Amino acid sequence: MSQRTHASLMGTRILLGISGGIAAYKSAHLARLLKKAGAEVRVVMTEGAQAFIAPLTLQALTGEPVRTSLLDPEAEAGMGHIELARWAELILIAPATADLMARLAQGQADDLLTTLCLANDAQWFMAPAMNQAMWRHPATLENARRLQDYGWRLLGPDAGDQACGDVGPGRMLEPEAIVNELLCDLSKTASKPSDPSPNHAADASGLTITITAGPTREPLDPVRYLSNHSSGKMGYALAQAAVERGARVRLISGPVALETPPGVERVDVESALEMLEAAQKAAVDSDIFIGCAAVADYRAEQIAEHKIKKSSDEDALTLRLVKNPDIIATIAENAVNSRPFVVGFAAETRDLERYALDKLTRKQLDMIVANDVSQPGLGFGADENAALLLWHGSEAAPGRLELSPQPKTMLAARIIDTAIKRLSATDEHPSCTSSQVT
Ligand code: PMT
Repeated sequence: MSQRTHASLMGTRILLGISGGIAAYKSAHLARLLKKAGAEVRVVMTEGAQAFIAPLTLQALTGEPVRTSLLDPEAEAGMGHIELARWAELILIAPATADLMARLAQGQADDLLTTLCLANDAQWFMAPAMNQAMWRHPATLENARRLQDYGWRLLGPDAGDQACGDVGPGRMLEPEAIVNELLCDLSKTASKPSDPSPNHAADASGLTITITAGPTREPLDPVRYLSNHSSGKMGYALAQAAVERGARVRLISGPVALETPPGVERVDVESALEMLEAAQKAAVDSDIFIGCAAVADYRAEQIAEHKIKKSSDEDALTLRLVKNPDIIATIAENAVNSRPFVVGFAAETRDLERYALDKLTRKQLDMIVANDVSQPGLGFGADENAALLLWHGSEAAPGRLELSPQPKTMLAARIIDTAIKRLSATDEHPSCTSSQVT
């Protein structure tokens, strides 16, 4: 990982949480690096952490008493735990064990560190560290996703040799890499004063966002066509969220029965070929291009000039279809610096993540929004949807954010915020990759 630094930790009040894993020994070096970078550091250790490293070591390195207990009358008399939670501008937990992640994901406050996390409203980072099988366990991955939903930034984990002899993902990032990731992240936040926390709406002023929405219609004859059940609700919700964040928004829409959100420039199209033409025109000066439309993969090779007549002798009618161009892949195939940040959708009925990752790579997208359209009440035509957002992350794993079922308007806001943040991360900080990796 590059050692570029982009911001300063000078004077930043950091609460360093240490939980009980073998990587805790590295936290002493981390505390030293944070102090060296000018941060004010106070350390809180869980009971497990104290089995690996003595509080006295951290006290000597930070020059501050180390807190270990919620119910310590002497420490509380100095700085009460709520006061300590308010003091911290940034909480960094390194290492974060599987157990600690589970407790935080549950909103528990059963020791000092988890209590402080619940009572603090600043910026939260954690560097997970555990055995590779524990990291891969669906329960841990689910907890990681939930924590990201709550606003935690995950730094790592790294992959490689583990203390237990296993090889795989789960190693804590090296202290230098943690500090570098913090600096990258803080400089992004600093460059966006209206976006102080990961849960706040991103600022899209100055950006042009193009969104395709709805179905396409592929004519067979003057009265018939091939199409699908897309209502346009998801794409229109994206357009609304983007305009609310200050973007100039172009909506390339297939035929739908929806009102245009105020402030959105709408271009109506019918077929995939028309959508491609409009998309290519719009992409030229777009910062973000989102392909939410359900584009028909095939069209009739010949469009009949007159209505196709029912034959009295034949029970079957054979239509020859040809492949439509892939609109989003066409936009994405331009050189990275001369094309927008490209976000595709993946509508799947099985193996959601596998197929979505394949589309992310094959179509050369920057991010993909995977939705399981076999779920009742979600996807096509519904007012609600759920999604798994994937992007190119660290070597160990893709970046991911799982969004639970919710109204399409809310989901759209999260998708737009994530796209804007990924765009600025890619533009400004190509080496800052792990802020939302699980
Ligand atoms: O419109 P709603 O009723 O609200 O429903 C929303 C939705 C289910 C349509 C939406 O959430 C969604 O999943 N849209 C993508 C549908 C789709 O065509 O998925 P796909 O997996 O077949 O295509 C993958 C990506 O390639 C998509 O970004 C699609 O826009 C794009 N594509 C596909 C084919 C093609 N010829 N050109 C394309 O650009």
